[in-house]
Amino acid sequence: KTPTPLHYTDKQTAEELIKPRQKFSHKGTYGHALLIAGSFGKMGAAVLSGKACLRSGIGLLTMHSPGCGYDILQISIPEAMAVMDNNHKTISQLPELDAYSAIGIGPGIGQDEATVKVMEQLLETIKVPLIIDADGLNILSQNRSLLDKLPENTILTPHPKEFQRLAGESKNEYERLELGKDFARKYRVIICLKGANTAVILPNGDIHFNSTGNAGMATGGTGDVLTGIITSLLAQKYSPEHAAILGVYEHGLAGDRAAEQKGQSALIASDVVDCLGW
Ligand code: APR
Ligand code: MG
Repeated sequence: KTPTPLHYTDKQTAEELIKPRQKFSHKGTYGHALLIAGSFGKMGAAVLSGKACLRSGIGLLTMHSPGCGYDILQISIPEAMAVMDNNHKTISQLPELDAYSAIGIGPGIGQDEATVKVMEQLLETIKVPLIIDADGLNILSQNRSLLDKLPENTILTPHPKEFQRLAGESKNEYERLELGKDFARKYRVIICLKGANTAVILPNGDIHFNSTGNAGMATGGTGDVLTGIITSLLAQKYSPEHAAILGVYEHGLAGDRAAEQKGQSALIASDVVDCLGW
């Protein structure tokens, strides 16, 4: 095996990737994102990812969630449009996709049979960049024929348990990275292997370790925030590689600012959203 080029995303690397806002721009310049998220009892995941998407520069955001999420979304994220599923509790329909420049799916969606079908239809029809997280990843692990349908450069953001379901057991950190490289090469996807120093693994086997973030972020919902950030960057036409590397960095940076304000123990995912900005 040839050695893997290893990279480290520090402040300078990240800042070089940022595309500055243009004076004569309008919301059309910054893309229209679609987030497919939430189910009964897990609408918070949709709200957190939606807010994070808006705080990461998106021009327009549409959310697709089950019917039970209508009031929740409209009240907690007035900036987003809400397209509701016919089903009250889970996602059972693929919405019209024509309007969007990138799509994020997974936070809080559960693994209902109808939602599995929606994932399959999405993978068969999508023509724009895609990020899959959380239960979206668990659906792939449980329905492995879907893995062959992943569009090239799809971004996957598993935590260690989700990664284990996708790619199998590993004895240590080194072995996990090797499994990640094999998986990224085989399916030609980008894997953000989350944890302290999240590793962004590219389809060519390169690995970018992140420098930001802290243990205060080990709290429910911070992963959903990352999904919103990366969806936003994809919709703004950052390349999938740059969206993953920069998104992971900015997520950790916001977490570090939040920890400065609140301390690590008191930090909650909403604080990370509030501290976004670059
Ligand atoms: N240091 C730095 N960053 C950390 C640390 C740490 N010690 N611990 C966690 N993080 C970061 C990770 O890098 C990741 O970006 O916090 C985020 C946690 O994401 P998830 O593990 O996906 O947690 P979250 O999504 O909030 O959990 C809610 O969603 O994915 C499901 O199974 C998950 O049920 C859970 C739910
Ligand atoms: Mg998660």
